[in-house]
Amino acid sequence: MKRSTSAPELLIHLNRSDRRSLRLQLERELRRAIQTGRLPSGSALPASRTLADDLHLSRGVVVEAYEQLRSEGYLTAAAGSATRVAARRATISAPAARARTSIAYRYDFRPGLPDVSLFPRRAWLTAVSRSLSRASSEALDYPPPEGVESAREVLSEYLNRARATASTPARLVVCSGSAQAVSLLCRVLRDHGVRELAVEDPGHTDQCTDIQAMGLSTPRIPVDNQGLSVDILESTRAGAVLVTPAHQYPMGSVLAPERRAALLEWAARRRALVIEDDYDAEYRYDREPVGALQGLAPDLVAYVGSASKVLSPALRLGWLLVPPALAEAVGRAKAGADRGSAALEQLAFADFVERGSFDRHIRRTRRVYRRRRDLLVSALEAHLPRSTLRGVAAGLHVLMELEAGIDEAAVIRLAAGRDIRVYGASAYRATPAAGAPALVLGYGNLQEEDIVPGVRQLADVVDECRPRRKQHRGRPERVRSARPAQSAH
Ligand SMILES: Cc1ncc(COP(=O)(O)O)c(C=O)c1O
Repeated sequence: MKRSTSAPELLIHLNRSDRRSLRLQLERELRRAIQTGRLPSGSALPASRTLADDLHLSRGVVVEAYEQLRSEGYLTAAAGSATRVAARRATISAPAARARTSIAYRYDFRPGLPDVSLFPRRAWLTAVSRSLSRASSEALDYPPPEGVESAREVLSEYLNRARATASTPARLVVCSGSAQAVSLLCRVLRDHGVRELAVEDPGHTDQCTDIQAMGLSTPRIPVDNQGLSVDILESTRAGAVLVTPAHQYPMGSVLAPERRAALLEWAARRRALVIEDDYDAEYRYDREPVGALQGLAPDLVAYVGSASKVLSPALRLGWLLVPPALAEAVGRAKAGADRGSAALEQLAFADFVERGSFDRHIRRTRRVYRRRRDLLVSALEAHLPRSTLRGVAAGLHVLMELEAGIDEAAVIRLAAGRDIRVYGASAYRATPAAGAPALVLGYGNLQEEDIVPGVRQLADVVDECRPRRKQHRGRPERVRSARPAQSAH
């Protein structure tokens, strides 16, 4: 039989048929209420006698539970006053604190996240149901570690058609996001004696951390508006390099044609591997995206792709296309990592692609993000005219350099206080203070109607962070355009 307190301010459930003692259950319930913030710091608990009466317990059980939580630091009890929730414990209500960073800001310019509300639920459900009803019983056995054969066939055909790769199903490995693809490559490279994997600077910080966690060092190679500075690779001992040629993350440049050639030439001469992270190439708004580097040199390039930007990162679905010489080792690494990705999801994804739903979804969302980007760019031009936008019209973010002298961290702090979340470019750099103050502004998950008001308020914040200098009479300040400094690729 279940018993609850009737006091609305403290709902405690005890289960008398549970094998655990009532005291342990009471402790657990109170602890959880404090950890989740349901019982906030400083709030008073009922007197032990009252709570015991409410729950039909002996008072001693409540006193013991309170005593235990007091010794754990969850509660405080001064002589003669009520038992209260301790201040220190209340501050560890991590779920609530974390939620603020992800959902609670009025305007959140988080880069890298698509509009997850556009996830094509109905089409996906149809794909799930159709693929499951057609799956043989054998399909419910452990899948091949590299991925379900039919799914790799469909994916291979899609990549060759849409990204100009040179793929065959035998070289394709379905992974748990592109994060796993990079980790598998690291494992294989390490087994082949590679110690250094060069990465872009600025670049994706989590990827860099993952690579280091796999035991490789990560020389950082600078990036400019032509992409990776390939000549600097020469001065490293890197046996591989991770690049984002179609849309550098986060600078937004495209690897220039002569640098693409130089990179492949470097890889051939060094017998090194180029890892091409093609994370958001589906979204190019001003022209067709450049084709994958892998298509030019399938023996030198490992291609990494993901459903995270087009559909949702919640799928944890990515793919890795490897040079033939590495295919077997990567397959073994995948088997060692997790015995293969979920087969039913692969079948659903294959059906989704085969039926044209993936292409339709890309076309639809491309229009949505293009509109958002156009709105964002024109709002930044209007309200932050002294800033400089970098990168081509692509992807889900824009990099905005703030005028010199503005403190990036101060902008982020002040904006947070106004319910605006923005992300500094310094977090993507090897040396955070090394570049111009800049923000990486994501528009993927920002609703259209929020873009202009969000930018307007951000402009007020930037204005307040501007160092106040005495104006020189008769010398007007030079105003730079916020128009994107785009390369032609
Ligand atoms: C540069 C870059 N590569 C890859 C990814 C996708 O990673 P995953 O497929 O593991 O979700 C992201 C997502 O944030 C990214 O920014």
